[in-house]
Amino acid sequence: MAVLYKCPVCEDVLEMRGKSLVCTKRHTFDMAKEGYVNFALGKNDSGDSAEMCACRRRFLSKGYYSGFSKLICDSVEKYTDPTSLLDAGCGEGYYLRKLRERFPQAELFGVDLAKEAVRLAAKSEKQMSGIKNLYSVCGIFSLPFFDNSFDAVISIFAPVGDAENARVLKSGGYMFVAGPGKTHLSGLKSAVYEKTYENEEKTREYDGFCFVGKESCKYSVTVEDEDILDLFTMTPYYWKTSKSDFEKLTKLTKLETELSFEISVYKALKQ
Ligand SMILES: C[S@@+](CC[C@H](N)C(=O)[O-])C[C@H]1O[C@@H](n2cnc3c(N)ncnc32)[C@H](O)[C@@H]1O
Ligand SMILES: [Zn+2]
Repeated sequence: MAVLYKCPVCEDVLEMRGKSLVCTKRHTFDMAKEGYVNFALGKNDSGDSAEMCACRRRFLSKGYYSGFSKLICDSVEKYTDPTSLLDAGCGEGYYLRKLRERFPQAELFGVDLAKEAVRLAAKSEKQMSGIKNLYSVCGIFSLPFFDNSFDAVISIFAPVGDAENARVLKSGGYMFVAGPGKTHLSGLKSAVYEKTYENEEKTREYDGFCFVGKESCKYSVTVEDEDILDLFTMTPYYWKTSKSDFEKLTKLTKLETELSFEISVYKALKQ
C-alpha cells in the first residue's frame, strides 16, 4: 500500500489536489515547483544552512563517500527488501538517490528541516524519475506519516528521532543509524587541530527497538583543492573551529584522510 502523508494540523489524510496536498478539513500544503512540500512553514527551526547544503551537494557528487553509500545500500539489502523507506534528516538526498538505484520499486521518502537541502533533493529526484512529492521540509521529531508506514527508516549523520521512527515503522521494520567510526576524518582533524581525538565507538540502545547488528567500512581518500573546504563545511567542525584554525585549510591543495563509517541496525519491536 502506498505511503500517505498525514496532515500535521489535524492528523487526517492529505491527498494530492492539483499542486497541493489537502486534507478533508482543507488544511493545504502547496507543492513547490521542484516537487517538495513544506510542513515547517512558520516554524523557526531551520536545520543546516544553505551554504552547508551546497557544500555537501558538491562534495558528495565527487564520489568520495561512494564506499559509504554502498555500505548503506548493502546493509539495507542484508536485512530487508523494503517497499517503503524513509530517510529522516536526508540532507540533499545523496543516499536516497543511491538507494533508488538499488531498490527501484520502493517508495523512498526524505524529510529534513533544511529547506535548501530538500529543494536540491526534490529537484534531482524530479529530473531523475519525474516523481514529485517524496521530499518534505519537516522535523524528524514530528513526522507527517501514519503509524506503521515504513519497512525501514535510515538516519545518516543526523539526530535520531527514535520514538517517531518506531511509530512510523511497521512491526519488524528496521532502523539504520549511520555515523562516524573511530578514525573518521582523522587526516582532516590533524590538519586543523593541534590535538586530535578519535571518535567514541558506542552502540546506543533505543526504547522499542532491539539492536541486531553493526556494519562498518573504512578507507582513505585524497581530497583535492576546493573539495577540502567543502568537506570541512559540511561537518560539525565547521561550527566549532576558530578562524585561524580554519585558515590552515585554505592553504592546502591536497588532504589525505581516513574515512570510517558505522551503521547500527535495530529492529522495531511492536505488539
Ligand atoms: C550532517 S547533515 C546529514 C545530511 C544527510 N543525511 C547526509 O548524510 O548527507 C544533518 C542533517 O540533519 C538535518 N537536521 C538536523 N536537525 C533536524 C531535525 N530536528 N529535523 C529534521 N532534520 C534535521 C540537517 O538540516 C541536516 O541536513
Ligand atoms: Zn488537516
